[in-house]
Amino acid sequence: MSKVTVVGAGNVGATCVNAMAIRETAGEIVLLDIKEGLAEGKVLDMYQTSTLMDFDTNLLGVTNDYAKTAGSDVVVITSGMPREDLIGVNAGIVKDVVTNILKYSPDAILLIVSNPMDTMTTLAQKVSGLPTNRVFGMGGALDSARFRGYLAKALGASANDVDGMVIGGHGDTTMIPLVSKASYKGVPVSEFLDEKTLGEIAAATMVGGATLTKLIGTSAWYAPGAGAAMMVEAILNDQKKMVPCCCYLDGEYGQKD
Ligand code: LAC
Repeated sequence: MSKVTVVGAGNVGATCVNAMAIRETAGEIVLLDIKEGLAEGKVLDMYQTSTLMDFDTNLLGVTNDYAKTAGSDVVVITSGMPREDLIGVNAGIVKDVVTNILKYSPDAILLIVSNPMDTMTTLAQKVSGLPTNRVFGMGGALDSARFRGYLAKALGASANDVDGMVIGGHGDTTMIPLVSKASYKGVPVSEFLDEKTLGEIAAATMVGGATLTKLIGTSAWYAPGAGAAMMVEAILNDQKKMVPCCCYLDGEYGQKD
């Protein structure tokens, strides 16, 4: 039976657990938070949907009790503040979390969601000293989902019929929507959409997170949580999916460090 831990019971962490619970991604899912009662409460609420949503995932919410996360196959780290200017605060939090997690799950694969995600993923890899193929950051999955969504809206198509990837960093200026590679049922989207529209879609994708923060007043959580859940499912089931993600490169694609 596989076990997944999600650290941080905020909007993103809880949404991630909820998506995995409903999809029965893992046999056991632990949600951990530093705030007394928060993870327990959210997990109890989710558990009470199990007869309504027809799932049987074993869920556990804990307050800072890392022993309960022991033996996790994948650990998703969402802790920290949503604002990028709190990089120092988040760095301390991510360091602590990684150290505590590895005490009880030395073989886990780490998936970092905390912002600034690219930096926090690098930090987690360095602090943990884990092989670079065991520490990933979730950003490309989210940005690609947004890209496909914007393309689908413009095409008047189902987002599931639209393929597209966003590579690079998870930042307004560092991400790269691969417009020329995007397709609608295998046909390049440039056959249906003009250059101006495609430029607008790429631009909207790049500020996708900021647009939502402006609308909601805080960072988005449904798509970020689902992005992490999808990656966990791909890892646990070795689905051979191609998912753009943040990882350390040592010569791959001609990139280093
Ligand atoms: C986003 C933030 C949370 O892209 O990184 O929604």
